Amino acid sequence: MAGDDDAPRPGDGWRDALRRSAVPQSVLDRAPEREPSLEPERFRWKPEEDAAQPVRPSRRRALEALPAGGTVLDVGVGGGASSLGLVPVPGLIVGVDPLPGMLESFEASARGAGVATRSVLGRWPDVADQVEPADVAVCHHAVYRVAEIEDFVAALTAHARRRVVIEISAHSPLAGLNPLWKLIHGVDRPDPAVADPLHAILVAMGYDVGREDMVLPARPQEVTQSVVEFARRRLYVGPERDTDIEQFLRTREPQEHRVVALWWPGTA
Ligand SMILES: C[S@@+](CC[C@H](N)C(=O)[O-])C[C@H]1O[C@@H](n2cnc3c(N)ncnc32)[C@H](O)[C@@H]1O
Repeated sequence: MAGDDDAPRPGDGWRDALRRSAVPQSVLDRAPEREPSLEPERFRWKPEEDAAQPVRPSRRRALEALPAGGTVLDVGVGGGASSLGLVPVPGLIVGVDPLPGMLESFEASARGAGVATRSVLGRWPDVADQVEPADVAVCHHAVYRVAEIEDFVAALTAHARRRVVIEISAHSPLAGLNPLWKLIHGVDRPDPAVADPLHAILVAMGYDVGREDMVLPARPQEVTQSVVEFARRRLYVGPERDTDIEQFLRTREPQEHRVVALWWPGTA
């Protein structure tokens, strides 16, 4: 007889998509670096760049729910781009991230912005019991590789008094490198939608979800050595492929980027 463990769950399709987009073992076996971790410098908060961008729905929806002097929980804080733009409204931002370099960057930028912080090192929801509830919980671009997505969002919901706001790209942000996967490895990579499935999971979990999409216009990207290195690490190859990578990046058309804000009431 089938037990509860076999019952379908809202995130089953999400987990299947993650399995389908796993890096092939044959590529990993030859890779100079098997698990490229994110580069803190790339995610450093740049207030002047932020100020030049249109205000995203995720920020407006967080500010709608945030009282003056309130607390923000930012899960997958990176360099703080998801919460530091809310200053001066919050009195405290609690950042959670498994990478110490990200937390250092977040704290340095928060000092510059003049907001109090607390940092919690670790993966969400593993470290959720070290975190007090906040008025608003935000989480931007941190769920792409999260397999147990129901546990992740349930813990966010339980840690927000007023609102949870997730920002996510419509499609996997690394899908732009798919032509290079074909060129270098001969592999056709999937280009999975991620915002629509996440939205459906949240609805299936019973949350009263709001949604707003925004298309960020295509912007030419300067192809610096660090941009080439970032792509190279996600392609699991060494510097011998830098010329191919650089040529591809220099000649591809700039892409527009659809970002999606999803928000729902917290239960803390
Ligand atoms: C793409 S960065 C985005 C950073 C920032 N939120 C932003 O919008 O610029 C994703 C961040 O989420 C963190 N992250 C990934 N999985 C996580 C998890 N399970 N719990 C907490 N943080 C996580 C990564 O270490 C990284 O700093």
